[in-house]
Amino acid sequence: MRLWEFIESSDGIVVLTGAGISADSGIPTFRGKDGLWNKYRPEELATPEAFRKNPELVWEWYMWRMKLVFSAKPNDAHKTIAKLEELGIVKAVITQNVDNLHERAGSRKVIHLHGRIDEARCEVCGKVVRFDEPISEIPRCCGMMRPNVVWFGEPLPEKELREAIELSEKFDMIVVGTSGVVQPAASLPFIAKRSGRRVAEVNVEETPITAIADLFVRGRASEVFREVLKLIG
Ligand code: OAD
Repeated sequence: MRLWEFIESSDGIVVLTGAGISADSGIPTFRGKDGLWNKYRPEELATPEAFRKNPELVWEWYMWRMKLVFSAKPNDAHKTIAKLEELGIVKAVITQNVDNLHERAGSRKVIHLHGRIDEARCEVCGKVVRFDEPISEIPRCCGMMRPNVVWFGEPLPEKELREAIELSEKFDMIVVGTSGVVQPAASLPFIAKRSGRRVAEVNVEETPITAIADLFVRGRASEVFREVLKLIG
């Protein structure tokens, strides 16, 4: 298997993931036929303005998605990536996903570029709380709490982005299940390439990243990584 050859011949890998890796766990992606942005309007649910206008509606949507995430289980892609970290091959996961499936599969070093759906942040004092089960009421602190995620028009967390760039310069990269259209995450494979590293991509369809990938594996993430898991075994 060519992905296994890519993995075996590498001196260290960073994995960049998007919504497609969690699709096989039943969590909807954003774009495409059944994507969230086909059914819901991001400007009404995922912007600071939307939250100011109608915090209850925004929270209701995030609490629904939080429930979905907690009822989902990590699939073979999440599990294999965690196993590869345990073996010392994968050095870190950089994810655009707000779900916690990488952590629940056993991954330790996970960089969340777009925040986490299982966290809320106080708008006044900045305190962050993490939940270990879905919530059904809006959490309060000294001020209104908001989902601890990155919304449209907001910058990415500085430390996480810096670390993601450093890792992309340093290691080979496997990109899994991202459409590669949202910046700055979409630039990371290009940074890896420019730094002389190899890039492999796993996706059910080609993306803007495919053109620079040394290896493109077409397929569902859980199925592709199940094959890798067999070879590790
Ligand atoms: P998208 O919904 O844009 O893209 C999902 C990608 O996964 C597509 O390229 C699909 O072809 C692919 N895909 C679907 N099912 C798959 C499967 N079973 N196996 C492998 N690949 C599969 O999701 P992202 O690229 O993650 O941002 O979107 C990036 C950002 O846009 C998100 O983090 C979110 C969204 O707006 C914020 O919320 C800030």
